[in-house]
Amino acid sequence: MIVAANFKMHKTRKETKEYLKELKKIDFNGVKVAVFPPFTALMEDELIGAQNAYPAINGAFTGEIGLEQLNEFNIKRVLIGHSERRHIIGESQEFISKKFDFYKEKGFEIFYCIGEPLEVRKKGIDEVVKYLQNQLVGIDLEYEKLTVAYEPVWAIGTGESASIEKIKETHAEIRKFTTRPVLYGGSVKPDNIKEIINIPNVDGVLIGGASLDVETFKEMIKIAKEIK
Ligand code: 13P
Repeated sequence: MIVAANFKMHKTRKETKEYLKELKKIDFNGVKVAVFPPFTALMEDELIGAQNAYPAINGAFTGEIGLEQLNEFNIKRVLIGHSERRHIIGESQEFISKKFDFYKEKGFEIFYCIGEPLEVRKKGIDEVVKYLQNQLVGIDLEYEKLTVAYEPVWAIGTGESASIEKIKETHAEIRKFTTRPVLYGGSVKPDNIKEIINIPNVDGVLIGGASLDVETFKEMIKIAKEIK
């Protein structure tokens, strides 16, 4: 069972340090925990991963960070393909797959995100699967350090997670493409995490908003521990 926190553009370095200190007061007891803070809060810690990274060691890529900067903090985990980067920043599948290849080649653990927007979901599961397949183009789906995160765009930050039925049918489809762990993300919180992680083919969760409060995040880890 994997429980991961994506802070997005929240928290300072100081706040992240305090958060980690508080978080480590509990025993994870076999639950794998990961925390993705903003770039400015990257630090050497086994829980930490980067929310994004450019596919190069270093170079003339203004506003980006690459392998050299991650190495400084001994970071070996990266999130790639988050819908906010795809849809707000405008990253293409071609670019995303380049990032994947680069960090795979460097032996990173990759949390790879996929997820359809509402207009696709409205067309039904077959269209959703086609859309997700396009987000998997160029990705080695059996990479041994890959974790996939299914995050329907319409459920992210809305307070309304996807229904159990929709998560179930979509994860069953994704399972046909990979044997690696598949997380669900999109409005996961203490009062729905239990039923979500009990769904077949859900191997954990990627949490945005509800991870920001460390006590809430700890509460969710505790629930995952009981189910594991
Ligand atoms: P929320 O939990 O805030 O919906 O965000 C999910 C997400 O995008 C995690 O990467």
